[in-house]
Formats: sequence, structure tokens, C-alpha cells
Amino acid sequence: MKTSHHHPFYVLLFLLLCSYGSASSNSYNHLLLVYTWPNTFCLDRSVTCKKPVPQNFALHGLWPANKSGKSLVYCSKTGSISQALQKYERQLEICWSSLRRDFTNREFWQYQWNKHGTCVLPRMNVSRYLQVIIAQGRRFNLLRALLSQNIMPNGSSYPRSSVEAAILLETRGQKFYISCQNFRNGVLIKEIYICLDANGRKVIHCPYSNNPRGCGRSMKLVFPGPASRI
Ligand SMILES: *[C@@H]1O[C@H](CO)[C@@H](O)[C@H](O)[C@H]1NC(C)=O
Ligand SMILES: *[C@@H]1O[C@H](CO)[C@@H](O)[C@H](O)[C@H]1NC(C)=O
Ligand SMILES: *[C@@H]1O[C@H](CO)[C@@H](O)[C@H](O)[C@H]1NC(C)=O
Repeated sequence: MKTSHHHPFYVLLFLLLCSYGSASSNSYNHLLLVYTWPNTFCLDRSVTCKKPVPQNFALHGLWPANKSGKSLVYCSKTGSISQALQKYERQLEICWSSLRRDFTNREFWQYQWNKHGTCVLPRMNVSRYLQVIIAQGRRFNLLRALLSQNIMPNGSSYPRSSVEAAILLETRGQKFYISCQNFRNGVLIKEIYICLDANGRKVIHCPYSNNPRGCGRSMKLVFPGPASRI
């Protein structure tokens, strides 16, 4: 008797399941909510920031990432998000502003959508993506957490362990990433990445990653004040 798994139909089904499986392993596994420390971002000579530079963490974006914590970019064909913006623009102005003078908020949001947002499709649509940004973007007060531990943005350096302990208060113990920028002799805090589940509902541990994100092995991190004081 012929065994069923040799039947061409089952071979075809097997192949279909395999290709479906590999497609889903390319898809995102969780979301990175990325906050920028503007004083560090605006040191970059290639960007011109709006003045005054906000003295608080600014939401950079919501970036889908795979199991290894790598963010996925330019995943699908892009389209204008202006229709969805009609409903959310006013809330986005408050929690997701462009730091750059050459980038209006709308241009910034469209750019972020094209590069990162398209990777949430088809699991989420544009509206849902923007809703997650509005709901989660205002939830974390990283500056308050750092100040509460006497970590002031005044250009001094602080033990990395103290910075991490302060931010863990805000993530309620969930692991996160810090990225840094080297400047003169210091390693400056640049961005904080908080991980959310794929639906953007709850904070999760960021997956283990040995990517030093510019911080190297530095045990001291500088928390820069306004440019004039660095
Ligand atoms: C995550 O993405 C990176 C870069 O695209 C890739 O090298 C890596 O294999 C991916 N990891 C998984 C688990 O898909
Ligand atoms: C977007 O997705 C949400 C569910 O996540 C759904 O309620 C809504 O109708 C969708 N909007 C559009 C324009 O498809
Ligand atoms: C920055 O603030 C910390 C904490 O209050 C303080 O210990 C440090 O001396 C200050 N550094 C400068 C350069 O003012």
C-alpha cells in the first residue's frame, strides 16, 4: 500500500508549510520602544535640531524586532499615512515630535512608518501602530526615574549599574537596552530601548543581546546637559 506522505499532495502541502514557516520567522517577534536623549542626539554634526532642545527623553519610534533583538526595516511597500494621521495627529504632536529642524513632524512620522512601521504589517495596521505609540509613548518617565536616583543631566558620568538600576524602576524590572555615543573622552547615554510584546500591550524582557550599541564595556556613562554645558 502506498504511504500517504509520499503522495504528491502531501509533498506539496509539506512544501507550502515550510515556506509559510520561513516567512513567519522573518516576521517580527516584539517591538522596541526607543527613546532618545536629545542632548546627545543633537551633538551629531550632521543634524540640526530645533531650538530649544527639549530637556527630556523624546520618543524616537516603535521598531519591530526579531527574536534576536534586531530591528527589521523596510519590510513592505509603503503608502502615505496621512489619512490615519487625521485622527491621531494632535495626540502624536504631544508624544512623538521631531527633534530635527529639517524634518516636520509629518515627515518624521512618515519616515518612521516607511522604515519601521511597515514591518508590523499585516499583524497591525497603521491606526493600531499609531495607537500603540500614543498609549505606550507617554507611559515611561525615564528622566524622572534617573533624577530620583540623583542621576542628573549635567555632564557628569555615573556608574552604568546605577543608570541601569534607575531605569529598571520604570520598566518594573524588565530588561532593556541602552545605546551610547562616544564623545571626547566620554561615553554618552544616547537611547533607551524598552521591549513590548508583539501586540504592543505589555513590557517584556528585551531578548539577551551582546550588541553593545556603542556603549562598549564602559562602566561609566555620561548624562549630558544642554550643549553649552558639556
Ligand atoms: C534577526 O535579524 C537579523 C538581521 O536581519 C538576522 O541576521 C538574524 O538571523 C535574525 N534572527 C532571527 C532569529 O530571525
Ligand atoms: C485596524 O486594526 C484594528 C484592530 O487592531 C481594527 O479595529 C481597525 O478596524 C483596523 N482599521 C483599519 C482602517 O483597517
Ligand atoms: C551633577 O549632579 C551630581 C548629582 O547631584 C553631582 O554629584 C555632580 O557633582 C554634578 N556635576 C556637575 C558637573 O555639576
